[in-house]
Amino acid sequence: ESAFRRSGSRSGHLLHRSFASAVTPERRVAILGAAGGIGQPLSLLMKLNPLVTHLSLYDIAGTPGVAADVSHINTLAEVKGFAAEEQLGQALEGADIVIIPAGVPRKPGMTRDDLFNINAGIVKSLCTAIAKYCPNAIVNMISNPVNSTVPIASEVFKKAGTYDEKKLFGVTTLDVVRAKTFYAGKAKVPVAEVNVPVVGGHAGITILPLFSQATPATNALGDEEIHALTKRTQDGGTEIVEAKAGKGSATLSMAYAGAIFADACLKGLNGVPDIVECSFVQSTVTELPFFASKVRLGKNGVEEVLGLGPLSEYEKRGLEALKPELMSSIEKGIKFAKAN
Ligand code: NAI
Repeated sequence: ESAFRRSGSRSGHLLHRSFASAVTPERRVAILGAAGGIGQPLSLLMKLNPLVTHLSLYDIAGTPGVAADVSHINTLAEVKGFAAEEQLGQALEGADIVIIPAGVPRKPGMTRDDLFNINAGIVKSLCTAIAKYCPNAIVNMISNPVNSTVPIASEVFKKAGTYDEKKLFGVTTLDVVRAKTFYAGKAKVPVAEVNVPVVGGHAGITILPLFSQATPATNALGDEEIHALTKRTQDGGTEIVEAKAGKGSATLSMAYAGAIFADACLKGLNGVPDIVECSFVQSTVTELPFFASKVRLGKNGVEEVLGLGPLSEYEKRGLEALKPELMSSIEKGIKFAKAN
């Protein structure tokens, strides 16, 4: 592959064209917050992804060690570390996808919204740099509260004149990962075959798993079990925060989820058909300006935001119940970005 890439660039577009479908295009991924609890295993997983040719690891602390460590792995991606704010531009240059797990995580007793004051500022400054150095990149926002950080990013990009709603994603994949695991356990179906859409937002009751659409379908689960599964999915993050007892929130399962979502974005960019993942995006599926639902990914990011499909009565009530909280988190983000 790398030999072909070299010969392809030397002998011009003819070769490129005739082998187009066989060639892995160059794909640059930047991770901001790469030395953190999520950032480190996510850096590892992206280094293992054969679609990644260049991996930029940026953090304000601890980058050189993480970048050196990951760089010794004998896979395709060329790894570079960027350690200080003055290197952020270089870290972002040419990026196709920027993944943002920068910021502080929750401690026991905290909600995701308690992170707002610190993380809003971090996200705003990182997005300002994205607008300047890689305005066309796809952004995968992991930093919490996602319900507010995605609207913040959109406002920063609007102000800079670079906003493309097809390229901004709040990463809610961990909710899907949890819903699949918990459902498989209760429904006693093979976990690898399970699919469950999760819609709404990414905090507490705004997380709405649609177990009525879960596959493989089962009628073994009654209302109480569905309610318990829904609660456990909504509180999955808190389960980890409590188990870690002050040492942070989900990092390993989040890195896995982040890697799955970034891989889907890369496949979409590369023209692989029918790539669908749930994500928190600009949306007209409900009256809310941002909403998580199934999204078809393509060469420009969002190809199509898919509708909710048929909901059970329980899910319909959940949907109405989540709207006020989700709307106020969205508005809080927009207000912050406009005021700062
Ligand atoms: P962590 O504290 O272990 O790591 C965060 C990293 O961000 C640190 O290495 C820190 O140096 C870096 N950082 C801080 N300010 C920065 C800046 N301005 N530029 C670049 N890097 C900066 O935290 P952890 O556990 O990795 O969590 C990170 C974020 O991800 C938190 O906001 C957390 O709430 C969120 N999260 C999101 C989930 C989701 O499902 N979307 C799930 C779990 C966590």
